[in-house]
Amino acid sequence: MKNIKIFLAGHKGLVGSAILRRLREKKYTNIILADKKKLNLLDQKKVFNFLKRKKPKIVIIAAAKVGGIYHNSTRGADFIYENLQIQNNLIHGSYKNNIKRLIFLGSSCIYPKNSKQPIKEEYLLSGKLEETNLPYATAKIAGIKMCEAYNKQYKTNYICLMPANTFGPNDNYNLLNSHFFPALIKKAHQCKVKNKKMIEVWGTGKPFRELIFVDDIADACIFFMNKKIKESLINIGSGKDMRIKDYAKFLIKKLKLNVKIKFKKSKPDGVFRKVLDVSKAKKYGWKAKISLDRGFELTYKDFLKKNIT
Ligand SMILES: NC(=O)c1ccc[n+]([C@@H]2O[C@H](COP(=O)([O-])OP(=O)(O)OC[C@H]3O[C@@H](n4cnc5c(N)ncnc54)[C@H](OP(=O)(O)O)[C@@H]3O)[C@@H](O)[C@H]2O)c1
Repeated sequence: MKNIKIFLAGHKGLVGSAILRRLREKKYTNIILADKKKLNLLDQKKVFNFLKRKKPKIVIIAAAKVGGIYHNSTRGADFIYENLQIQNNLIHGSYKNNIKRLIFLGSSCIYPKNSKQPIKEEYLLSGKLEETNLPYATAKIAGIKMCEAYNKQYKTNYICLMPANTFGPNDNYNLLNSHFFPALIKKAHQCKVKNKKMIEVWGTGKPFRELIFVDDIADACIFFMNKKIKESLINIGSGKDMRIKDYAKFLIKKLKLNVKIKFKKSKPDGVFRKVLDVSKAKKYGWKAKISLDRGFELTYKDFLKKNIT
């Protein structure tokens, strides 16, 4: 089955590039790739024709409009339009082309903001969402419900994985639209090279965040793409979280910095806590394997190699 035809959408992104590495490590030989220049996934006609021509058996959707709290709260229209369009085109296009297996990615940030902890899959849509990423969450929830509806009506096997905050090689370090951890890595690195005495952390530093190394997400995608399961939604996390200020302390220690933390309290905190209940994934035999320490080492090596300033 290693020659099964797989279309991996979004292979140049953080998660997509890790899935591609993992597929190659696992010796999958028939992977179809098309970047945005070759195939803009917003274009329905082109996506449908592409799937008709290429005839993959599996589609993995790692393409999406993704960003941190700043862009999410200021570019809501782009987030809802582009995500709905990309996932509609790929999910419906897969159904129309008789593709039975598909992996769609949600995100832990789309659960209700006051969810009980740890968050179980069934808490989705059980309460009010976080305001700062409402358009993104609305689109992602629509994608999950779409997969569920297609599974029920058309007997497809479209699985939605719900990853925790992800980090790893190939991350986005642009401070305006990056997630909190790559932003902290960049700030910590700047403190090191510029010998700064202060590292700035957005918000109060008190919210908790769960991190998962991207190779674990890639591993989960391949594990579940080969499974026939009853549920359409599976949480994928490390199951461990800590406060944002503790991640800052972790980086200060790793980079041996002599700095104080300054909390920029005018910036939003986002959801207070969102640690995932990963018991369903474990029940199927999957769990995260890479520690924060090891994940950080691999990520920082890539950061230094790319000479990011
Ligand atoms: N990063 C996280 O912390 C995290 C956490 C949980 C879930 N996820 C989920 O994982 C998935 C991937 O996220 P990521 O962090 O890997 O994002 P990313 O690094 O921004 O990668 C997204 C990829 O999608 C491509 N793309 C976007 N719009 C496209 C279009 N119109 N046509 C073709 N390609 C397009 C991008 O190409 P260009 O670069 O050329 O635009 C990029 O290669 C998303 O569904 C996200 O919700 C991510």
